[in-house]
Amino acid sequence: MTIKSFKQFRDALYAFRLPRIIFSALDLNLFTKMDDRDWTIPELAKCVRVSQRGLAILCRNLASVGLLVKSQSRYHLAPFSKRYLQKSSPDFRGDYLELMQRQWSEWSDLTEIIRVGQPRDSEEPETPEYRRSFSLAMHHRSIQSAREVAQQISLKTDRTLLDLGGGPGTYALAFLAKNPRLHATVMDRPAALDVARRLAEQTSLGTRLTYQAGDFLTARIAGTYDVVWYSNVLHIYSPADNLKIFKKIKRILNPGGRLLIQDTFLQDSKELQPLEANLFAVSMLLYTQKGNTYSVRDVREWLQAAGLARSRVFHLKEGTGDWEGQLIEGRFPRSR
Ligand SMILES: C[S@@+](CC[C@H](N)C(=O)[O-])C[C@H]1O[C@@H](n2cnc3c(N)ncnc32)[C@H](O)[C@@H]1O
Repeated sequence: MTIKSFKQFRDALYAFRLPRIIFSALDLNLFTKMDDRDWTIPELAKCVRVSQRGLAILCRNLASVGLLVKSQSRYHLAPFSKRYLQKSSPDFRGDYLELMQRQWSEWSDLTEIIRVGQPRDSEEPETPEYRRSFSLAMHHRSIQSAREVAQQISLKTDRTLLDLGGGPGTYALAFLAKNPRLHATVMDRPAALDVARRLAEQTSLGTRLTYQAGDFLTARIAGTYDVVWYSNVLHIYSPADNLKIFKKIKRILNPGGRLLIQDTFLQDSKELQPLEANLFAVSMLLYTQKGNTYSVRDVREWLQAAGLARSRVFHLKEGTGDWEGQLIEGRFPRSR
């Protein structure tokens, strides 16, 4: 997106309206309350306990983007909303929706955070409750992309994989499902591993999954691995910390082993594209002490400095994976 006219500028600013409308519907628990029924506005207003005028305008907007279906003067949930936004659905993405809802007010602190350069509660230690809820949100975010990625990365000759900062273990489970001879380990904080254990118990893959609790920046990473999967962690850390982590990873890779990095990467020499990679850097400003987003070139330089010099960019099929479909691979040469 490039802004050249005042109209484009205005449209860019007013892009907040649709998200705000959807957040209000989520705040009101509208999708869950609508359930499988067909509603008139007066009936639904009574059920949700809001004004008929407000609800009529809200529903019209939701229907105009396909989240509700309008027939004559009645509304019901569209298939998408029924599947992902309604609590009784097995695919309900509740924890991820809550994470996004919280971000509305958190992003309103941005001006102050730009002033000071640090998140508001940067000194407060995180609670296990927060980590559990965040991990479930990550699972909801990645459940589909993890399957897509596992389909496209060949791990046929690999026996051991470390999902470093693996959170709920969504990716580890997807790799295990695709590769019956693989054994995976998820390393993360204890509360995230609680979620990973619970999710693994719902599958038959748990016997090939182990857990390592600890802070991988400060603690020893136990074991050696054919593959280290480092997904959505790079952006949490500074360049210096990422280099330190890459060097640690090199020490636990088997000869010929690979580090695979999934993140949103800046592509051009000016570090301006894609927009998403820059927008995500703002999230890192809001929520982390030193995080940022980085260019493909930066990451390959760190790989080189860490001794994982045979690096390459791996392109996923369009529309798959967590971001723009790029992974960066660093390989540890066979002869040490
Ligand atoms: C954004 S989540 C990504 C989860 C998962 N890899 C994915 O792609 O969906 C980042 C994860 O890294 C973990 N993490 C970050 N720094 C860590 C550290 N120093 N030690 C252990 N875990 C860490 C967090 O607890 C969190 O679960």
